[in-house]
Amino acid sequence: MSAWRWVPLRLFAVVWTAWSAAVLAAPVPKNAVASAHPWATAAGMDMLRAGGNAFDAAVAISAVLAVVEPASSGVGGGGFYLLHTAKGGRDVMVDARETAPLAARPDLYVAPDRAPGASSTDGPLAAGIPGEPAAWAHLAKRYGRLPLQQSLAPAIRIAREGFPLYARLQNAIRVKQARLAASPEAGRVFLEHGQVPEVGALIRQPELASTLEMLARDGVQAFYQGPFADRLVAAVRRDGGIWTREDLARYRVVERVPLTLHYRDATLVTAAPPSSGGVVIGDVLNMLSGYDLARLDRDTRRHLTIEALRRAFRDRAEYLGDPDFVQMPLARLLSADYAAGQATSIRLDRATPSEMLRPVTAETEGQHTTHFSVLDAAGNRVAATISINLFFGATYMVPGTGFLLNDTMDDFSTAPGQPNAFQLVGAAANAVGPGKRPLSSMTPTFVETPRGLLIIGSPGGSTIISNVLFGILGWFDGLSAAEIVALPRFHHQYLPDVVTLEPGALSAAERAALERLGHHLSEGRYGWGNTQVITWDYGTGKVETASDPRGFGAGLVY
Ligand code: DON
Repeated sequence: MSAWRWVPLRLFAVVWTAWSAAVLAAPVPKNAVASAHPWATAAGMDMLRAGGNAFDAAVAISAVLAVVEPASSGVGGGGFYLLHTAKGGRDVMVDARETAPLAARPDLYVAPDRAPGASSTDGPLAAGIPGEPAAWAHLAKRYGRLPLQQSLAPAIRIAREGFPLYARLQNAIRVKQARLAASPEAGRVFLEHGQVPEVGALIRQPELASTLEMLARDGVQAFYQGPFADRLVAAVRRDGGIWTREDLARYRVVERVPLTLHYRDATLVTAAPPSSGGVVIGDVLNMLSGYDLARLDRDTRRHLTIEALRRAFRDRAEYLGDPDFVQMPLARLLSADYAAGQATSIRLDRATPSEMLRPVTAETEGQHTTHFSVLDAAGNRVAATISINLFFGATYMVPGTGFLLNDTMDDFSTAPGQPNAFQLVGAAANAVGPGKRPLSSMTPTFVETPRGLLIIGSPGGSTIISNVLFGILGWFDGLSAAEIVALPRFHHQYLPDVVTLEPGALSAAERAALERLGHHLSEGRYGWGNTQVITWDYGTGKVETASDPRGFGAGLVY
């Protein structure tokens, strides 16, 4: 046989052997969903069973959460969808963050001539231009297999038929009862004759069902342009907001390259700006990599992590903002040398008061949100954190639309040195600006180590970052999905200079150990997150889900 005939054959054999070995050796994932509500998890699973992929499931889950967790996220909000496509192995962050209206200026909330009651947390002036509807359309068209009619169907049905009120949502209604009562549209949906409904009461949202139906039928342009958009703009302006038709017509999701971080043998793919989460976590891990964590006792390790968070959050306040508007020294902030420099001031025997750190040049910057994680049997993944910011957002509903507007404008630094609802301070980088996206703490993340894959994220405002960080460290320590979501929570964010503790998170001895080092401790009763985790062990092939025991959510694997 002449050489030219067997060379291709041999090549084929080599390629075939390599390919089949790779395929046989590659761990095979399963379909898995973890979200903050069992009906959202079920809707995601239904899409996967019906031939949809993780991205279709993400649309269905988001839409059901918009209905059954209306205090946390929804059509009037935004968020970040971290995607991994099995084919091509691509990671992308779909940035569906709200944008500031074009008329927004840095002094929007502090100008001497501002309207009485101008607020970055209540009413339509608090609302950025929503990104959720655009995100759903983008996911369905670019990544999904199913039409929006199919992926939005479960949400439409639940909005129309109703769902039973559960304690966690009832609590959110109680917290915002006065504001909801002041808003006739929202009050009609979430209160019964002005009172907080009983657990088990059916919450029906027929107008929201119609809005979702419009999205499914007419596509996303029907939301951002035309008569529906005109209705939104007219109501917002009548009630003190500054939206224009142009704001809605110009809204676009942005596909960004997520941050890829390396820590020992782990690779993390996580949220890039305008989220601060990935940068803070990267900086903290870089600082920690100078220590042998396994050899530190638990008190010292806790202290060290707090000190690293303090330093990383300081930089968050000074440098971070919307990458389309501000130049950020990301390469420097994420370099090992920079972290080593920061770590030189860390003392293992004493807390560094935040005021000892270089001050942030401030010439310029009850709660809720939700997270879900999806893995499909093809290996596609989604980690999505979506929000309308505080409980029930701006507690403002445009008549006839059935959804609440966000109050995400409060994530900007609305006045120099003035902390926002999460006590975060900021600088010029995060000042209000026309068309700008406010800095976020939402941190959907994938972590890969030789052990396997972790998909993680949570709500919780600024505490999201420490929550996700401790989850990642728990994964490194060998914790299971259930152990990760149950980890006790504590947090430091530079200012205020306190370690905030979840009630019961630390024992008296553990608290005393931190206090001896000079830390100020304070118990925070507010949202300690609602973490939704999927883990996939490459060795055993086992896929596990876990939903935070603090919440009402559920995970499913099939
Ligand atoms: O983007 C942010 O950082 C905030 N809007 C998230 C708000 C939040 O997590 C509220 N949750 N408990």
